[in-house]
Formats: sequence, structure tokens, C-alpha cells
Amino acid sequence: MDSLTRREFVAAAGAATAWTAHSYSQILGANERLRIGVIGAGGMATAHMHTLVKMREKDNLAILAVCDLYQPRLDKAVQITGGQPYKEYRRLLENKDIDYVVIGTPEHWHAQMTLDAADTGKHIYCEKPLGNTVEETRVVRANYLKNKTKLATQVGTQRHAYENFNRVREMVRDGAIGDLVEVCAWGDRKLGKPGYLPAAGDPPADFHWDLWLGPSPAHPWNPEYFSGSSGMNCLQWNMYWDFGSGQVGDMGSHTMDLAWNAIDADLPTTAEGKGDPFNPDVTPVKLETIFPAIEPIRAARCKPEIQVFELK
Ligand SMILES: NC(=O)c1ccc[n+]([C@@H]2O[C@H](COP(=O)([O-])OP(=O)(O)OC[C@H]3O[C@@H](n4cnc5c(N)ncnc54)[C@H](O)[C@@H]3O)[C@@H](O)[C@H]2O)c1
Repeated sequence: MDSLTRREFVAAAGAATAWTAHSYSQILGANERLRIGVIGAGGMATAHMHTLVKMREKDNLAILAVCDLYQPRLDKAVQITGGQPYKEYRRLLENKDIDYVVIGTPEHWHAQMTLDAADTGKHIYCEKPLGNTVEETRVVRANYLKNKTKLATQVGTQRHAYENFNRVREMVRDGAIGDLVEVCAWGDRKLGKPGYLPAAGDPPADFHWDLWLGPSPAHPWNPEYFSGSSGMNCLQWNMYWDFGSGQVGDMGSHTMDLAWNAIDADLPTTAEGKGDPFNPDVTPVKLETIFPAIEPIRAARCKPEIQVFELK
């Protein structure tokens, strides 16, 4: 696949999915057919599959395999893509014909799957967020740095690949809003839950709850975690700490990314939070988090020649 086609790959990706030309062009042997495996066949991964199916003729892609541990979704994924079905993602990763994996599983799986995919030499597109804890994201980042000359990787924050995203950066840095003193990102989804759900019988026979839990601590099955409906189920599980990071990791991955991208801030080393009292089971509904800057951003004025501000 030539580089022009790769750019078209991005343009064609539409609302659900956007791979950057940068990540895609790093793929070795990219003049040949790119062979993809999709892990997870829920709402978001299905949106990716539809996009890939639309692109496959023009962009010389093949969806070789799909994986899910819920049989109805796996069946549907096979129907959409024609890919070989897998229930266990490690078996899919063992398939040496696959160059690239798209991961759309719940968030407690992201770090483990990304590390395993890199270990088998696959290029990776993994849905946001990068991991489910700060420690996990550090391990994934360290592994990315080790592999970055060999593997093309991308976090699934599709907005980041839209032109408008970098336009915001350009405008801020050109001074369109004057001195930048503070950046705020908001979220308005309120998904309050009291705590982990009580046991509610046995999981459906065609669903592997133990595999779904994977690296998370054990929890009894309750269908409110996972209904398997045809839409996105992330709003059923991502407010439980063992499976997600609430709205900070969900919409925050998009909205804070826009701010971070514009100001070139380094990684925060401290954070202050206020809002709902900490609940060890579930993420807060009311939360304000502040990443304090040592030097007011005003001093840096976000001009490219100034090495923007540090955070402590
Ligand atoms: N970029 C976006 O705009 C956007 C939008 C929605 C969701 N997402 C992200 O996409 C991801 C998935 O969200 P969703 O709403 O599709 O969730 P979902 O629950 O609908 O789908 C996840 C699927 O992964 C499967 N799965 C779980 N563990 C697995 C394993 N070990 N092996 C194989 N399959 C496994 C589940 O059975 C399920 O079908 C989340 O990380 C979410 O944050 C991103």
C-alpha cells in the first residue's frame, strides 16, 4: 500500500475509526495486503469492523480473524467480516499471518492485550484508555518506547486524527485566545452506582464470564455488567474500578487529549481531586481534578520557542 493510500485510509475512516497515516505508514511490508485481527466484538469494535470492511477492497486490507468470548457477538463479527473466529485472544495472536490487531475490549484488558500483541510482533490499534491504572499505562508506555521503531501503535481516540484537532493546537499556539492561563475539560455523564453488583445466578452459557474478568479480581456474575446488547456496553461496566476508570478514562480520554495536545504539557506528576468521597468500588460522579503547574501557563504563553510549563 503506498503512502497516498494510507492517507486515504485515514480520510475514509469516518466517524467511528481513524488510523493516522503516521502509525500506518510505519508498518513493514505495507505495500502488501495488511492482515488484521479484531479482538473484542462489542459496540466499538463492531464500528471498526464496518469501517474496515468498507475500506478493504480499495485499501488492500484483509480481516483475517475476529475474537470475542460472547458467542452471539462472535457470530455477528464473522458475518460482518468473514474472519476466522477465536474465543481466546492469545490464540489469535499466535496466528503469524496477522500483522495488525484492533483491540476493542473493556479497559481492564487493554494493557495486557497490548503487551501480548507487541510480544508477538503485531502492530496495534487499541481503544482508549491505554490502561486501567497509572501503573499499567506506565508499563504500556515503556513497552511502546522499546518497540516504537518496529511497531506502529495507536490509541483509539479517533478525534485525535481529525484535522480540527490540530487546528485547535495551531490556534492556541498562534495566540488566537491570547494568554493561556488555564485549560478546562468538562464531562457531563452521570453514571452513579453504589458499589459492585451482587451475585445474580449463572452467566449465559454462551458467555465466558471468567475470561471476561481476566486480569481483574474475581466478581460474581451480574447481567448489569454486560448485557451483550448490540450497542456500546461500556457504560455498563466502566464506572467499576476493576473494569474501567469512569468518565475520566472514558470521555476524558478525548476531551483532556484536546487540551494536552494544544499545550504540549509534559506528564503530570501530581493531581488534586475534589468531589464525591472516594468509593473503592465505583468511580465518582462529581469530580474536579486539577493538575497544578509550577510556572503559570501565562509565562509560557504556549509559544513554540518556549519549552512550555512543567508540572509538579
Ligand atoms: N473511541 C471512542 O469514541 C469509543 C466509544 C465507545 C467505546 N470506546 C472504547 O471501546 C472499548 C469497548 O467499548 P464497548 O462499548 O464496545 O464495550 P462492549 O462491552 O460493548 O464490548 C467489549 C467486547 O469485548 C469482549 N471481550 C471482553 N473480554 C474479552 C477477551 N478477553 N477476549 C475477547 N473479547 C473480549 C466482550 O465480550 C465484548 O463483546 C472500551 O475501551 C471503550 O472505552 C471508545
